[in-house]
Amino acid sequence: MNITFLLNGETVELADVDPTATLLDWLREDRGLTGTKEGCNEGDCGACTVMVTEDGTHKALNACILFLPQLHGKAIRTVEGASGPNGEAHPVQQAMVDLHGSQCGFCTPGFVMSMVASHANGATDHDTQLAGNLCRCTGYAPIIRAAKAAETHPIPKWINADQSFFCSQIPRGEAESRGAEPSSAHLPASADALAALYAQFPDATLIAGATDVGLWVTKQLRELDPVIFLNRCEDLKDITITDDEIRFGAMVDMNRMGDALGDIHPSYAEMIRRYASVQVRHAATVGGNIANGSPIGDNPPALIALNATLHLRKGDTRRTIPLEEFFIDYGKQDRAPGEFVEAVSFPRQPNRLKCYKLSKRFDQDISAVCGCFNITITDGTVTQARIAFGGMAGIPKRASHVEAALLGQPWTLDTIQAATQDFDRDFTPMTDMRASAQYRLETAKAMLERYFREDQGEVTNVLEVSA
Ligand SMILES: Cc1cc2nc3c(=O)[nH]c(=O)nc-3n(C[C@H](O)[C@H](O)[C@H](O)COP(=O)(O)OP(=O)(O)OC[C@H]3O[C@@H](n4cnc5c(N)ncnc54)[C@H](O)[C@@H]3O)c2cc1C
Ligand code: FES
Ligand code: FES
Repeated sequence: MNITFLLNGETVELADVDPTATLLDWLREDRGLTGTKEGCNEGDCGACTVMVTEDGTHKALNACILFLPQLHGKAIRTVEGASGPNGEAHPVQQAMVDLHGSQCGFCTPGFVMSMVASHANGATDHDTQLAGNLCRCTGYAPIIRAAKAAETHPIPKWINADQSFFCSQIPRGEAESRGAEPSSAHLPASADALAALYAQFPDATLIAGATDVGLWVTKQLRELDPVIFLNRCEDLKDITITDDEIRFGAMVDMNRMGDALGDIHPSYAEMIRRYASVQVRHAATVGGNIANGSPIGDNPPALIALNATLHLRKGDTRRTIPLEEFFIDYGKQDRAPGEFVEAVSFPRQPNRLKCYKLSKRFDQDISAVCGCFNITITDGTVTQARIAFGGMAGIPKRASHVEAALLGQPWTLDTIQAATQDFDRDFTPMTDMRASAQYRLETAKAMLERYFREDQGEVTNVLEVSA
């Protein structure tokens, strides 16, 4: 596979790249750019953060779980390219020096690149922007102070120039494919091209954001062949919001999804803010989060509670199913060979949705339990209830008995307390490293009561974290 991208202002053309070579390995081993560090090699620590510029957006991304073909046609900046052509420090670098933002320095290039990206985007929510970067020596306060201090400085010329140079120089060309056996890797440029390729290679591994698949390679050392990358399918990145419906293409990433939902279902958007880190959210897609069939993915319970429909496609044949029916059993989904997720949609509705994500760590952690509640009250009576959970079964699953116990009942604490008994009928959760079965059941019950109390105007969120 041949790919082209911009690296620290210079065009790079690579022929016959190994499709599952990571950007991190290539930078360090092939280019000698060792400023980008390897910490966890699984998207968790941020030491490998680089900035990728695409369509006007600067994205902090983890190079350790980014495959080279995902970068085709984009502009990459590593820490070596954060400073100017004559060695001028970027404002965030200078602020890190001035405000003592670094001790051992291992985390520092990753922090700097996250800060370069948020500085370029004008983002000032630094706790959120830096939640995917771990530091064990300096502590976060001086780093956050440095990010704040840099806010008022203009974006350096070389960072701005990057964008226009990139746009004019890099061809946004058609799909690059290498179909010859034994290795085949494909980079289709539209959903139609993807459909045709996947029908031809139904055993291929689809790669969307690679926040799961990346770990199959870096941690499980799996060899993937053939592979089809979805990142060039622009028509899978559409977000459509009408009076009747909201629809997300499969390749919509978590940050865009969260932004789109902010005013419509703010509790869902807030849960997405706690989905991994900025870096992972820039990569992870809604299609991947559904298609992987994980029982602890954060989107499926929220989408099921919103009565979502899944749009599947195989070749030219499309079908839709209620999202909850997609999840058949642990590791088993209603998806035929060669069939892929094209989109997910749900009806516009009054916002009654609350999403409660429970994890050991506030940021950058997978849910132990994720409960999503969408309950309609008419004249004091429950007239509709859709409640779905992640982390309570082998699949994302509705609390059908609890819903039935609520329907038609007065919206009172007595009703809630009676209905919580039915959680034992709906779920037999497991004990694992994230939580015990009993803890999961107890917290699920508590979430229903929390929903009720919040609905009565009680303040239940006592979270206050600041640097
Ligand atoms: C550090 C870290 C933190 C994380 N935190 C969270 C978290 O808080 N919450 C959470 O829910 N998840 C979390 N995850 C898991 C991961 O982000 C999600 O599962 C993600 O949504 C997967 O999407 P992707 O685009 O990266 O998929 P990929 O890794 O590219 O693919 C995942 C699977 O889906 C298949 N696939 C992808 N797109 C399609 C499609 N359109 N049609 C059919 N099949 C497809 C792939 O073939 C593969 O089997 C985390 C992951 C990491 C590394
Ligand atoms: S090395 Fe830890 S996120 Fe990449
Ligand atoms: S300075 Fe050592 S890990 Fe951050």
